[in-house]
Amino acid sequence: MSRAACLLVIISLMSPAAEALDNGLALKPTMGWLHWERFMCNIDCDTDPNNCISERLYMQMADVMVKEGWKEAGYEYVCIDDCWPSHQRDAQGRLQADPKRFPGGIKKLADYIHSKGLKLGIYADVGDKTCAGYPGSLGYYEKDAQTFADWDVDLLKFDGCFMNRALLGEGYINMSKALNNTGRPILYSCEWPLYEWPLKQPNYTAIRETCNHWRNFDDVFDSWSSVKSILDWTAAHQDIIVPAAGPGGWNDPDMLVIGNFGLSHDQQESQMALWAIMASPLLMSNDLRDICPRSKELLQNKRIIDISQDSMGKQGYRTAKGNDFEVWEKPLSKNRLAIAVLNKLETGGPRGFNIGAAPGWKICGPQCNVTQILPQYKEMGVQTQQSKIIVSVNPSGTALLTVTPISSDFRRLHKLNWQGTFVRRKHTIL
Ligand code: GAL
Repeated sequence: MSRAACLLVIISLMSPAAEALDNGLALKPTMGWLHWERFMCNIDCDTDPNNCISERLYMQMADVMVKEGWKEAGYEYVCIDDCWPSHQRDAQGRLQADPKRFPGGIKKLADYIHSKGLKLGIYADVGDKTCAGYPGSLGYYEKDAQTFADWDVDLLKFDGCFMNRALLGEGYINMSKALNNTGRPILYSCEWPLYEWPLKQPNYTAIRETCNHWRNFDDVFDSWSSVKSILDWTAAHQDIIVPAAGPGGWNDPDMLVIGNFGLSHDQQESQMALWAIMASPLLMSNDLRDICPRSKELLQNKRIIDISQDSMGKQGYRTAKGNDFEVWEKPLSKNRLAIAVLNKLETGGPRGFNIGAAPGWKICGPQCNVTQILPQYKEMGVQTQQSKIIVSVNPSGTALLTVTPISSDFRRLHKLNWQGTFVRRKHTIL
């Protein structure tokens, strides 16, 4: 094997560390909409009927998702977060929706969402109470799982507040079994590792066997510092968490806040690009009824969504950093690679980055085809390992490219690689 060939092994593929939860769901990162970051626990329907947590909000969001191309772009789940239930369970001990805000009840809402060809997600908590103080599921896992199945719910986000941390794992596993026992495929979104990290390093083998995706870190806020902190945490823990991701189970860095108030357009592009590279669930939390055209176009960008949803299902790594740039790379099907270059310098103007310095550029030997997706779509044509392509990256923005090797030699090597050794390059300092 030539030296160049050896280097090809470096950015490579690794099977996820464990079997995924076997419910046939989330074979690609989940796409949809989730109310929390944008609408929080707004239950004041008297003064704010348009934005309060009520059946109307989800119905309107579903309508827009169908009419405005979201569904066609792949966004499928319409998800309720905290603050939907009544503070009291019913006479049979079942959770019930707040009767004033959800007069039709959840089953009817699910029927409506399904009539639009979409799916409905709901929220509950492994402990005594939800984070916002509504009834928790502790002691009611079977009952709640059955209630959600009876309502034809398609996804459960299961939070971890008000729970004895030593019993978190047991709780999450028991709810996973309870959901499975209903016989209805319900996508299971967990926060198990987030609540466990302060205590110990979570067991990602068990988590992957239990959940379809799992939150690891803090809630996303509508700010660049929040998005950055999530990226920093992910990169710092990538050797532990990335191998756990793959079809059926994904690391969840929390919602996309694109289309809200806190991110500049460059920062929105960075979130979209990096969430795709991280093979993250793409759950938007924004107001689809009122979103600026540029944010909409970004969220519906087919080329970025294709990177997220790539059939190989590999989460990318941060492969290099230095000079206030970060390079993140995600192996794609058909031997391709996605490369994101993030400019972390929050001062000055656009800065040039020689894409040949990205570790994954090695696959350009002898030749490759390059497409730039962000900041603008541009076919860059056939390139070689020696090509000097300078991409211009705005402060806190990201350039996103895909690279397709041309050599048939690469394919042979790739096969070898796919079956065998995985050696990931140590962080390069640019
Ligand atoms: C947090 C969770 C958020 C949201 C909130 C609801 O713990 O991480 O995503 O669900 O609770 O109260």
